[in-house]
Amino acid sequence: MKFPDSGRPRAEVMAELSAMKSGDADWRRGRVPLYVFKATQEAAEVGQEAFNLYFTENALGAKRAFSSLKKMEDEVAAMALDLFHAPAGAVGNMTTGGSESILMAVKAARDFARKQRGDRAHRGNLVLPGSAHPAFNKAALLMDLEVRRVAVAKDFRADPAAMAAACDRDTIMIVGSAPCFPYGAIDPIRELGQVAGAKNLWLHVDACVGGYVAPFVRDEGWPVPDFDFSVPEVSSLSADLHKFGFAPKPASTVFYRDAEKRAGQTFSIDEWPNGRFVTETLTGTRAGGAVAAAWALMQTLGRPGYRRIARDLMRMRDAYVEGIEKIPGFRVFGAPHLTLLGFGAADLDMGRVAEGMQKRGWVPGMLKDPPGLHLMMSLLHAEARNDYLRDLAASAAEVRATSGKAKIEAVYS
Ligand SMILES: Cc1ncc(COP(=O)(O)O)c(C=O)c1O
Repeated sequence: MKFPDSGRPRAEVMAELSAMKSGDADWRRGRVPLYVFKATQEAAEVGQEAFNLYFTENALGAKRAFSSLKKMEDEVAAMALDLFHAPAGAVGNMTTGGSESILMAVKAARDFARKQRGDRAHRGNLVLPGSAHPAFNKAALLMDLEVRRVAVAKDFRADPAAMAAACDRDTIMIVGSAPCFPYGAIDPIRELGQVAGAKNLWLHVDACVGGYVAPFVRDEGWPVPDFDFSVPEVSSLSADLHKFGFAPKPASTVFYRDAEKRAGQTFSIDEWPNGRFVTETLTGTRAGGAVAAAWALMQTLGRPGYRRIARDLMRMRDAYVEGIEKIPGFRVFGAPHLTLLGFGAADLDMGRVAEGMQKRGWVPGMLKDPPGLHLMMSLLHAEARNDYLRDLAASAAEVRATSGKAKIEAVYS
């Protein structure tokens, strides 16, 4: 396509947009197993309305031009610190997503370690459970750190003893997820805390997925292990608003036990003609709407609103698990704590099952190790349950009755 020599009528362009969209996967009917999240219709509307009210404002200018955004961002951080049992003196801010939050925490840990060692060129390593998100690898690639992934235990959770054994004097951070993406299980953060305490290591909790829903799932009576600053050795924590905080994208948060730990996150650059350039984020310009929407959602939902959503999510999750495990041979892997599940049947080529699901109109979430399917469900998936289970059973039966080799690959790109 060439850059247009002339403009086209607005209505025509909008109609084309709508037409293009109609060819996308049907996320509204729960056919997409990740990427999009919804709680109630009202929560979606609040997010959209608040976002639109601040559609043009730029959170980069929050300190100098948009004091309301500065106030809201500080209040989002304060509300979250309260939710995450942070001690006085803890600090945090919004970012544009989980990957950015993780990147910032890794940079803070790296610079903290370098300062403590008095070695500005020290090359550190990150010790991760095998199930940790690739965002840690991205951070390591950008900052030339070594990544040590340690196999998870039989229960698909981080193995604290094996992680302890993988640490050495160059380790700058150990990580636990709350929960991890592949299996949906919250790692044993208390036990990882003991490892961190014994070895004087920085423990980061990646609560990008679970941070804003796990506390309410626990309030509603489902088991949720301690995962936040209530574990005294936790140094930093990332939690995404645009996943199970049900806020519009792009919105995440990153927190530190104290300001000294955050120091390395701050970019303060005084080398260009305009003067000192200071940001707490890798990104410069940030959507003001994302800040306003996150604030408005916390204010409208409050604890009772999030608890209702958590209860509905978990009831839905339990019904999915029951339905999946009724299909001959199928088992959910481990004991997921929230609405992320990995599951499969050991005697089936799960790639072919995924192809069967694709043929039936689903975007199949896939898992390579062990081979299986994957779901990260919000309330968009509640109504899709019967269709999903019917098609899963049909795909599995088809694979059992026929032979062949899967062409599909587990690729997230
Ligand atoms: C556990 C976990 N951490 C971090 C991320 C990265 O978040 P984002 O896609 O917002 O960068 C994800 C994304 O799914 C995740 O599941």
